[in-house]
Amino acid sequence: MTETPTSVLVVGATGGIGRRVVAAAERHGLDVRALVRDPHRAERTLPGTQLVRGDLEQPATLTAALQGVDAIVFTHGGNGNPDAARRIDYGGVANVLHALDGRTPRLALMTSIGVSRRGAYGGSTGQLLDWKRRSERLVRASGAPYTIIRPGWFDNVGPGDELLVLEQTDTGNGGIGRDQLAEVLVRSLLTETAVGRTFELFAERGPAPSDWSGLFAALAADPSGGLDAVGDPSSLPSVAEEPDVVQQDLGRLGH
Ligand SMILES: NC(=O)c1ccc[n+]([C@@H]2O[C@H](COP(=O)([O-])OP(=O)(O)OC[C@H]3O[C@@H](n4cnc5c(N)ncnc54)[C@H](OP(=O)(O)O)[C@@H]3O)[C@@H](O)[C@H]2O)c1
Repeated sequence: MTETPTSVLVVGATGGIGRRVVAAAERHGLDVRALVRDPHRAERTLPGTQLVRGDLEQPATLTAALQGVDAIVFTHGGNGNPDAARRIDYGGVANVLHALDGRTPRLALMTSIGVSRRGAYGGSTGQLLDWKRRSERLVRASGAPYTIIRPGWFDNVGPGDELLVLEQTDTGNGGIGRDQLAEVLVRSLLTETAVGRTFELFAERGPAPSDWSGLFAALAADPSGGLDAVGDPSSLPSVAEEPDVVQQDLGRLGH
């Protein structure tokens, strides 16, 4: 059993998903801390929320922000170009995990559908997804209880699309509401059966979930001690085929 968290740090808290995660976590009674680069600007986006200054590219700024939190939700993202994907989407996860210095809070990581479909997306999108896939590997290697959510297209949903569809083949396509995604990220922290699960998330016409424990329990767990998700193709790169920085980060995490 993992402890149910009472406090959470939201990474990417000023973003389209992050600000909704802050609201959802507050609704669920969690003690919420928002990691922000510019507290003055963030005060307007997140009035009344506890703000802690930190830049994912400056590891020294993360230590204080992480003190005493027992859960972290990652919803940050760069501007989509491959260099930002390496420095922020991937590097932000690496820097936070290193700053934890062996502590293992509950983690919820948002990545994207398609991260394991190498070759399906070319160019900068393919590289962005590759860095997100590598960030997933770090989370699995961290030893912390985690849930990894690979959302479909944001807000590409219609009226009545309340049913949540959780898949594990990474072959699906579809949309998910931003509010729905935020709710699932927070519920994953609060639900024991979500631990060790990676899944794609879509919404379809139908009723909203009422049994969150059952929703997550229907999923298969990721292989224990592995770096990839349960349904991922076996053709993903070995550690030796990953960029040096990934090999080093995995090594620092004891993998
Ligand atoms: N669009 C889709 O349909 C879709 C589908 C699946 C996945 N995704 C993924 O979702 C992500 C976008 O989510 P979103 O719309 O919520 O993003 P967003 O609105 O662009 O927000 C990004 C957040 O990351 C923060 N951030 C960026 N660099 C940072 C740094 N160095 N240190 C600290 N925080 C930093 C930003 O903070 P500031 O306010 O300081 O800039 C902001 O809070 C992308 O990575 C995308 O690949 C998108």
